[in-house]
Amino acid sequence: MRILIVGGGGREHALAWKLSQSPRRPQLWCAPGNAGIASLATCAEIAADNVPVLLEFARKQNIDLVVVGPEAALAAGIVDAFQERGMRIFGPTREAAELESSKSWCKNLFRKHNIPSAGFRAFDRFDDAARYVERTPHPVVVKADGIAAGKGVTVCRTPVESMAAIGAAMKDRVFGKAGDRVLIEEFLAGEEVSVLALTDGQTIAMLDSAQDHKRINDGDEGPNTGGMGAYSPAPVFSEELAARTAREVFVPIVHAMREERRPYKGVLYAGLMLTRSGPKVLEINARFGDPETQPLMMRLRTDLLDLIDAVIDGKLSKADLEWDPDPAVCVVAASGGYPGEIKKGLEIRGLEDAGRVPGVQVFHAGTVLKGERILTAGGRVLGVTAKGATHSAARDAAYRAMSAIQFDGIHYRRDIGLRAIRSPAV
Ligand code: AMP
Ligand code: GLY
Repeated sequence: MRILIVGGGGREHALAWKLSQSPRRPQLWCAPGNAGIASLATCAEIAADNVPVLLEFARKQNIDLVVVGPEAALAAGIVDAFQERGMRIFGPTREAAELESSKSWCKNLFRKHNIPSAGFRAFDRFDDAARYVERTPHPVVVKADGIAAGKGVTVCRTPVESMAAIGAAMKDRVFGKAGDRVLIEEFLAGEEVSVLALTDGQTIAMLDSAQDHKRINDGDEGPNTGGMGAYSPAPVFSEELAARTAREVFVPIVHAMREERRPYKGVLYAGLMLTRSGPKVLEINARFGDPETQPLMMRLRTDLLDLIDAVIDGKLSKADLEWDPDPAVCVVAASGGYPGEIKKGLEIRGLEDAGRVPGVQVFHAGTVLKGERILTAGGRVLGVTAKGATHSAARDAAYRAMSAIQFDGIHYRRDIGLRAIRSPAV
């Protein structure tokens, strides 16, 4: 079995790590990969959204199965292109992935099908958006409609802040065309949780819960990032909430997508706000989360390859997901300056020592191999992930490993997973 993993971040390293443990002993390729993935897979220098070159590569290498990591590839129609040529690929089609790539399309679907989510208005003109925020009670949330690498969302406390956010998206076009349309959403208060489900278009299989840490600094301060750390499970997400989320969120989405003639296969990632009136969807992603996938893969006992096959073949109703009850915690090491401008090419030291801490896996994100040395190559550099008997033990192990790692300007949060320890299950 020859598998090509598309992407090159921490999520793809965790997927490659898990797939490499399949009893079916697959051979792995990855495009573009990173220095960590290179120890498990043959990496090819092809951008994740360069669909024609990926097709050619997959043909030449006789790839049996493609597993897609990032949203950019899905939005570029990678699944459609491979399916048209009769090749096996895991992920939603371009139209189905609009759940993520167009927030307004997604929100309209929610409205039509009564899926719980924040109230919203969409605007294509700056003047209309500006007039609206002037007379709307705050806080509100301003979102770029398209894909903006997790950075297109601003919580605004005052109309002045909203005006600045709208101006940045629509006038300065800091997100390019992703910000030509903006959504202005009702602000929801509560605890956030990431819940992922596999679906074959008919059945859903929910994964265990996880919690992300989106802001750059401790105490959830500073700008939003792609995610600075995650843990699984999230103690606040009780079995009752899980059942409710399946019933009110995932099942209705899968039905709605069938009705819209965009049947959805792959991973549905729901960013949920647990409000006083129940779980509400903040966003849907059409893929595995990063960094949630790192702790999730460390806890998943079931063979991921079997699950992927069940999704593609429409046999998910027969699948059974087994989890290690031990929690896992992932702490992200970022480059200095992230999520703003960063330097690349800095040497990373201490990876071997970090990897020797019991229960630890160091997943690579933005890294590159240069001769014998491993250098930084992106904003999020590593995801130091540990499993332990408790959240606290897993956290301690992850931070012990992190303290062995050095590169110029390294930045990581010290409070990843603390919430799981402080907030008992409800
Ligand atoms: P998103 O990329 O849509 O998940 O948004 C990024 C972050 O912004 C979320 O993780 C939330 O912390 C926050 N956020 C997004 N939408 C809302 C909302 N309607 N109410 C409150 N916070 C929100
Ligand atoms: N961790 C957030 C995301 O993957 O979008």
